[in-house]
Amino acid sequence: MKHKIAYRLALTYGLIFILAVAAIDAALVLVYRDNQLKKNENFYFGLSSMFATMVENNIKITNYINYNEGLVGQNNGRVLLLDTEGKVLLDSGSELIGVSLTNQEFRKALESGKPATGYYSFENKGMAMFSYPVHFSGHIKAVVMISVFIQDIYDDINRFAMQIIVISALVVIMVITASIWMGRRLSEPIVRLTTAAEQIYKGKIDTTVEINRTDEIGRLAGTFNRMSGELKKIETGRRRFISDVSHELKTPLSSIKALIEALIASETEDELCKEYLQDINHEIDRLTGLVCSLLTSARLEEVMIKGEPLLLAEEVDCAIRALLPLAAQKHISLENTCDRSVVIHADRNMLKEVLINLIDNSIKYGVQCGTVSIECSHNSFNVVDNGCGISEEDLPNIFDSFYRVDQSRTGENGSGIGLFIVKRIIELHGFAISVSSKPGSGSVFTVTF
Ligand SMILES: Nc1ncnc2c1ncn2[C@@H]1O[C@H](COP(=O)(O)OP(=O)(O)O)[C@@H](O)[C@H]1O
Ligand SMILES: [Mg+2]
Repeated sequence: MKHKIAYRLALTYGLIFILAVAAIDAALVLVYRDNQLKKNENFYFGLSSMFATMVENNIKITNYINYNEGLVGQNNGRVLLLDTEGKVLLDSGSELIGVSLTNQEFRKALESGKPATGYYSFENKGMAMFSYPVHFSGHIKAVVMISVFIQDIYDDINRFAMQIIVISALVVIMVITASIWMGRRLSEPIVRLTTAAEQIYKGKIDTTVEINRTDEIGRLAGTFNRMSGELKKIETGRRRFISDVSHELKTPLSSIKALIEALIASETEDELCKEYLQDINHEIDRLTGLVCSLLTSARLEEVMIKGEPLLLAEEVDCAIRALLPLAAQKHISLENTCDRSVVIHADRNMLKEVLINLIDNSIKYGVQCGTVSIECSHNSFNVVDNGCGISEEDLPNIFDSFYRVDQSRTGENGSGIGLFIVKRIIELHGFAISVSSKPGSGSVFTVTF
């Protein structure tokens, strides 16, 4: 079933509503029934009380009984006057005079001295029996008994009950329909989200859902779409990365192959052979560098940083020591102007990687006899050089993987992964990196922590 929630909701609401409505209906019908019977009872007690008063005052009531029999008789009723033994003294129907009756209402009235009522069914018709004691100087001397059919009252109550049941049934149907509609409104976007998630699972990762709502489901759909957008970006990045890596590996491999083939084909002199082997060696160095960088960047995906308080100036010293031979080749001087007290909370190896990459770039892209200086403050450090600089259009891209500024301008052939790794490490630490540069006059890389 596609809209399970809708039907479950309808069933739950429906059941709760049916129970509530049934309870209310039953209460209403009972109250109505009580009211109707009470009204009827009051009427006949009034009549009985009148007879009783007449009997108490020795007024001859035969005529009245006969007269009132008309009133009672409308309901096929009967009026009797019984003595305390239950013997009928007067009967509006005459046949029972002299007969002894001892029904329940008669006994109740005698025993309690108060009026009593009983309800019966006679020939499938509802009937009521009222008894009313007659007093003579403080003692009960006789009892007035009235019996009437009250089937019309029962019919009226049944009609009332039927009307209420019909109205309630209509309301229940309306409630169930409304809950199905509501449930569908609730589950329909969930069904669509599920379908979209299945699509993504099957590989169509750019699947999105169009749900224009501002509630939680709308927010869920928004997040879902952002997630699928992000997945798409990651997938595109992954593909590009693989193709970049393959390309990067292919270039040195082809030149190694070409050099070796040239060596095989020629009857080489030792000098040329050496030269070729040096080129091959150089290409292999490049390959090794590239593979190392790739390994570092792959490791960064799953690494946990082990942050510790480090004296920044000491870490800079350490990085400078490692790069001195490289700087010496270009007669570049490396300066550490850091405040010795600056402490940075970072992973030592990763910080070293960042410093070496930034200083290495400044040397690589620096001018002969230039300077590279590392300056620190309490919340940032800068790597400043007076090298070739970076043009404005290249600046936003230099942190992308494999991005290199046109090599003919810089004369260097790096892999373009260094700054990508730097950025990743900086992000892992929750730091930020920025760069400002002017072509021809140098660059400043700033890490803020
Ligand atoms: N200090 C710098 N001065 C000039 N250009 C730089 C500097 N640092 C980085 N770049 C430019 O940014 C590019 C990306 O740097 P990076 O990712 O370290 O790659 P790589 O060093 O392998 O070329 C470099 O190719 C270079 O063109
Ligand atoms: Mg680099």
